[in-house]
Amino acid sequence: MGQRLQSRGAIAKFLVSDHQRLGVLFRAAVANPDQVDHESYTHFRAGLLRHIGMEEKILLPAIQQRQGGNAWPLAAKLRLDHGALASLLMSPPRPAIVAMLQTILEAHNELEEGANGLYAAGDELVGPESEQLVARLKAAPLVSVMPYSDTEAVRTTIRRALERAGYRFEG
Ligand SMILES: [Fe+2]
Ligand SMILES: [Fe+2]
Repeated sequence: MGQRLQSRGAIAKFLVSDHQRLGVLFRAAVANPDQVDHESYTHFRAGLLRHIGMEEKILLPAIQQRQGGNAWPLAAKLRLDHGALASLLMSPPRPAIVAMLQTILEAHNELEEGANGLYAAGDELVGPESEQLVARLKAAPLVSVMPYSDTEAVRTTIRRALERAGYRFEG
């Protein structure tokens, strides 16, 4: 967490508070790691997938457009993290899955929220149209969430997605 919320632009305010909302759901879901609260976890899972969609389909393209077609420098890394997070959400929330989600989210959110992060770049580049962009973010569709899957294929997908994003999975 970089600056205080009040000093931020509209995009940062909106997406940082979405991180905070998702953090509350996540902590409620895994307060007892041996017994995940599935209602909170289901809201967290759907909310995180929607949040990723807002960044990938709306914010990153808007930034790229305003940089003459050049992607934000860490866009590729953020997309790899998103792929890793989405793969982890396919699995039932075993303790190793939950721990990995927490590790990735901490590092990832810092890249987005920091003073030189994605959201500050968005507010700077989108400038006077940032309120309109926030309206588009708010209108982003809900994401349909698949049932959990714990097959060998899913485990392989998770391992590879994590490796591509630079994480090592011991689960
Ligand atoms: Fe993200
Ligand atoms: Fe985010």
